[in-house]
Amino acid sequence: MSASIEIAGVSKVYDGGVRAVDAVAMDIRQGEFFSLLGPSGCGKTTTLRMIAGFETPSSGAIRVDGADITHVPAHKRDMGMVFQNYALFPHRTVAENVAFGLRMRGLDKATIAAKVKAALAMVELSGLEDRRPAQLSGGQQQRVALARAIVIAPRVLLCDEPLGALDKKLRQQMQFELKQLQKKLGLTLVFVTHDQEEALAMSDRIAVMNGGRVEQVGTPTDIYNQPTTRFVADFIGDTNIFRGERTAAGQSLDVGKGLILALPPTEAQGTGVLSVALRPEKIRLNPRVDAATTAGSSAHGTVENTNFLGGAVLYRITLEGGHRVLVQQPNAGTSRLFVPGNGVTLEWTPADLVVLKD
Ligand SMILES: Nc1ncnc2c1ncn2[C@@H]1O[C@H](COP(=O)(O)OP(=O)(O)OP(=O)(O)O)[C@@H](O)[C@H]1O
Ligand SMILES: [Mg+2]
Repeated sequence: MSASIEIAGVSKVYDGGVRAVDAVAMDIRQGEFFSLLGPSGCGKTTTLRMIAGFETPSSGAIRVDGADITHVPAHKRDMGMVFQNYALFPHRTVAENVAFGLRMRGLDKATIAAKVKAALAMVELSGLEDRRPAQLSGGQQQRVALARAIVIAPRVLLCDEPLGALDKKLRQQMQFELKQLQKKLGLTLVFVTHDQEEALAMSDRIAVMNGGRVEQVGTPTDIYNQPTTRFVADFIGDTNIFRGERTAAGQSLDVGKGLILALPPTEAQGTGVLSVALRPEKIRLNPRVDAATTAGSSAHGTVENTNFLGGAVLYRITLEGGHRVLVQQPNAGTSRLFVPGNGVTLEWTPADLVVLKD
């Protein structure tokens, strides 16, 4: 019942010349939880609105299950949409809000009542049928918006930052519930967020967008472990990025200030300038030991400051030559924590360096 979506070279230039979406191409699979992730203004909402039919592409095509729907009006697309601000009708009850799309479709009263009841049960709101939105918590309003979108049994569910207004705890709970619901119904879900942790936690695949373009499409682990561009490496989580020139033999990168990094064995050929990323948690931190260091995969430094995250600690470290590096270590107990001023030795595995396309 759910559908696949193909976005084929779609661009959107608004009146006034803003190129909000620029030659975007991606294939969203049937039953997939697919996220559009990127900073404010990168074109996420515009892309979603073109899928929904609220905006028309300036060029390119959108296909659903292979059929071109680029010029099919929104109400004929069989898609449910949840907006960032919920957009509930304030003067109507919960049940009336959920019934809206069914009434538009001209279903009879008994069918509508049964479907509304089932949808509210699905989002665990049974019993609140007669309340108005103002009498509900943020999370409950969010569920009404969700029920209203799924009650029409859409082929595709589109969600634009649906959890943005919720506090952290509720947000995590709703993330979990939305994902469960999506899997249970087998829905194709396109989910817009600018929150990288949310995208990593929920998605089957993520498209990272920047300036109207797609930088990378991949699974959360792909995107996190193998970012292909500097933008993706930088946008998703904390990371250390080094740029330098390959040494004569090609196996190492001279990033200046006396630091030479051994490249991963798979990348140990070539010449020229290169950028690499190294995640803070891939670096091991020990009290300074002068003897046991290996060229290319270790360095000495001094702890500048620490950021206690609870389960982990993030250290900002200045290396002897002056490079500043982030290192994250699991919280192994107070006696094992470093404090500003401590001399430390950093070690890493060359295979954990990720070469970036820039
Ligand atoms: N109706 C419009 N007319 C002109 N420009 C627009 C219009 N809507 C959006 N834009 C511009 O298009 C670009 C992309 O906007 P869009 O709303 O798609 O971004 P977004 O990724 O959803 O951002 P956010 O995370 O802030 O919601 C922005 O530069 C925005 O100013
Ligand atoms: Mg938006």
